[in-house]
Amino acid sequence: MTTREVQDAIVRLRKENNVCVLAHAYMRRELCETADYVGDSFGLSQQAAASDAETVIMCGVRFMAETVKILAPDKKVILANPDAGCPMADQIDREMLTQLKQSYPGYTTVAYINTAAETKTVCDVCVTSSAAVKIIRNIPNDKILFVPDCNLGDYVAKQVPEKEFAFMRGGCPTHLRITPADVAAAKEKHPDALFLVHPECNPKVTAMADYVGSTTGIMDHAMNSNKKEFLIGTENSIVQHLQFSCPDKRFYAVSKDCVCHNMHSTTLMDLYYALKGDGGEEITLPADILRDARHCIDEMLRLGR
Ligand code: 13P
Ligand code: SF4
Repeated sequence: MTTREVQDAIVRLRKENNVCVLAHAYMRRELCETADYVGDSFGLSQQAAASDAETVIMCGVRFMAETVKILAPDKKVILANPDAGCPMADQIDREMLTQLKQSYPGYTTVAYINTAAETKTVCDVCVTSSAAVKIIRNIPNDKILFVPDCNLGDYVAKQVPEKEFAFMRGGCPTHLRITPADVAAAKEKHPDALFLVHPECNPKVTAMADYVGSTTGIMDHAMNSNKKEFLIGTENSIVQHLQFSCPDKRFYAVSKDCVCHNMHSTTLMDLYYALKGDGGEEITLPADILRDARHCIDEMLRLGR
């Protein structure tokens, strides 16, 4: 089969079977073109909650499929590639967080959505990169224990100086590949370009940015800007998606190493087989985890409104 034939089959199958295909924007281009919805972590959770399809296929990493299952426990949720995990989500588990919380009595525990369902059961509030600042401002406590990404945490703490933050030393190994030297070299090569960066990057990189935001935030900012050239400081799929969306503008990756191999492990054929019922993994979670992990996600949606 050619790429085009597989894409046509995917679109036909998802319509015939009333399946909602969600794709994180770090997915490969050819896969994004076949999905019902492409977006950042916050958008994916909102779409999952709103969709009326009985089955959702997640083209993303495991914590994203688990989040869909928590929000929509009656739906059948399939992770298109069962091997797609998030190394940052694996940096903390329920036991570690339970222990850490004992050192911070009186703090509200805030977890990045990039955490396992089991870890979420011992969190007070979840955040995504797009809504972290707003949600944390709206928490009625000025003491925040933020896990696992200390870079996103550092960014939020600078925007919300009135609160006191405690962190663990976790982070995204993909975004950490962008160095200040990469940014300096890219700026020298493209002096007129705006530098758009994801808050998962090292704070020294984030400090050099013209705009800091989530995946969707970066894309919207570039699409709505009058500028013609952009340096992209996030996973490099975004460079390609933006170049397709705005052929009159030019987009450059700040580092050719900013590639998430977990996100890219999901292929078009994985999605095709998952739709045929011959691939992927159905996400099942014990009833107590579904119940206890829901609270912090509901808080995220409520405080982010
Ligand atoms: P957002 O989708 O919130 O931009 O986060 C990026 C990311 O690294 C997802 O794993
Ligand atoms: Fe995890 Fe980073 Fe990959 Fe996102 S980009 S899935 S945070 S490793």
